[in-house]
Amino acid sequence: MRRRILITLLILATPFVIGLVLTYEIVQVDFPSFMEDQPSVGYREGPRLLPPAGSVPITGVEAPLDGSLPQNPVPATPTSIARGRVLFGIHCAVCHGEKGRGDGPVAAYFQPPASEVADLTEERILEEEDGLIYLTITEGFQGMPSLAPNLTPRERWDVINYLRTLQQAQ
Ligand code: HEC
Repeated sequence: MRRRILITLLILATPFVIGLVLTYEIVQVDFPSFMEDQPSVGYREGPRLLPPAGSVPITGVEAPLDGSLPQNPVPATPTSIARGRVLFGIHCAVCHGEKGRGDGPVAAYFQPPASEVADLTEERILEEEDGLIYLTITEGFQGMPSLAPNLTPRERWDVINYLRTLQQAQ
């Protein structure tokens, strides 16, 4: 009688014991549901492929691939100009000054023979096409560093729209 009860208990307990052994990974079984079992390339697994030729960043086209001057796609609305004013104050005024006169606090460090900070209200820059100023911001120009990491393409056009109002005001 006693033996019977013991055997019954043993038989009933076996599935639980097996479950616990697997749950606590005393015996490890690779279940096929593990996240690393997928066709994608994991972190630090082999070289990343370069983007296909002609790929465009999700923030927009940086500059035309054929080398032509980009056209300003952002209309000079009050919103764009207001955004441009804020961005100009953050990214350009340190060198070019609040009014774009080339007299920002950092301008003193640009001494000849190195390039001097440009006066953005000059006739020459007033006559420059928007696309050329866009390339100056995107790629930098001689002494001026590229500000592409700081400004998205849209933001660069906003700055240019604001710069136009600055030039007109003087
Ligand atoms: C670190 C300082 C610095 C900052 C920041 C800076 N610039 Fe300049 N920028 C310069 C210097 C220096 C030059 C003159 C380059 C030269 O002629 O050698 C220049 C020149 C220019 C020119 C004239 C290029 C030409 O065709 O002669 C434009 C336009 C211009 N900057 C726009 C901007 C705008 C817009 C921003 C903000 C988004 C900006 N810059 C931020 C230093 C700066």
